[in-house]
Amino acid sequence: MKNFRVMTGLFFGVTFSFLLSGCEGASSTMLPVTTSGVVISNLMWIVFGVAAVVFVVVETLLVISILKFRHKQKDPLQKADLPEQVEGNQFFETLWTMAPAIVLAIIFALTVVALQTVINPPQDGSTAITNANMLNIRVTGHQWWWQFDYPNLKITTADEFHIPVNTVVMVSVQSADVIHSFWVPQFGGKIDVIPGHLNYTWFKATKTGVYNGQCSEYCGEEHAEMKFLVMVDTPEDYQTWVKSQQALPQDVLGDAATGKQIVLTGVCSGCHTIRGTSAVGKIGPDLTHLASRKIFSGGVLENTPDNLKKWLTDPSAVKPGTIMPKLSLSPDDITSLIAYLETLK
Ligand code: CUA
Repeated sequence: MKNFRVMTGLFFGVTFSFLLSGCEGASSTMLPVTTSGVVISNLMWIVFGVAAVVFVVVETLLVISILKFRHKQKDPLQKADLPEQVEGNQFFETLWTMAPAIVLAIIFALTVVALQTVINPPQDGSTAITNANMLNIRVTGHQWWWQFDYPNLKITTADEFHIPVNTVVMVSVQSADVIHSFWVPQFGGKIDVIPGHLNYTWFKATKTGVYNGQCSEYCGEEHAEMKFLVMVDTPEDYQTWVKSQQALPQDVLGDAATGKQIVLTGVCSGCHTIRGTSAVGKIGPDLTHLASRKIFSGGVLENTPDNLKKWLTDPSAVKPGTIMPKLSLSPDDITSLIAYLETLK
């Protein structure tokens, strides 16, 4: 008996600590910051409330029945404890058929209404967005990082992207290799990222901030390190970001110039693009504004000079399975490379 209690305590302790840890930080679907995220969250709470009422009613009746009609007689054949039998009682049969049917019908109707709001972007003009200036972002999933293209703005970035607050953003998603899933928990639903197929979603974030995104479809050994960040900016901050991303890199001197030379003459340029230079590779992330980003390589590390050094020294030691090769660079080369990369703001 004592063992049973200890085990039960452990079970609930462990279970609930997982549940609670799942609710913390900025990755919770229960803290929605988009219009559809709010709709989904509200629906979840309604269904949860209905389920809670059903649970309490059913469990209460169950416990009452167990206590009231438990076996008390010594003679097992004596039937004095049996409650009145209601099999075939028309009132009860109708009640417990109709009650669940009505509850499920209400939840079904609410779900269909919520689904329409989630699927269809607002068409009422309140967002002041027309097709001509609508913000389109093309998301491409790679093993294991995310690419973000703004076709109308001629911006390409990786691992993080910016959007203006209170604006409908149309998103098309595609894959460069295997199936991934694009998910920002606080934005609401997920969207599958499928090779050879364009999928579409949209969102309208209503609160500025930085939000965590994560690939949510197992896609290989570094699936967990396929994270990204979404920065929801004020319109002014967003415009500043757009301008800075559209700009070409500045001229560089000294160590940075040596680093630039290594990038352009070595293998880096075969995989990476740095606009305004001869590096036009398409396999790895666009590095034109690498230094403006908080994270790199699917968020495996924060974007600091020390972390870049770890990465350039041996990518596979940081992220086993990455296709970024070990380049056998000398420590001096790495110092120069980082000096150059730090200028790519
Ligand atoms: Cu990409 Cu999991």
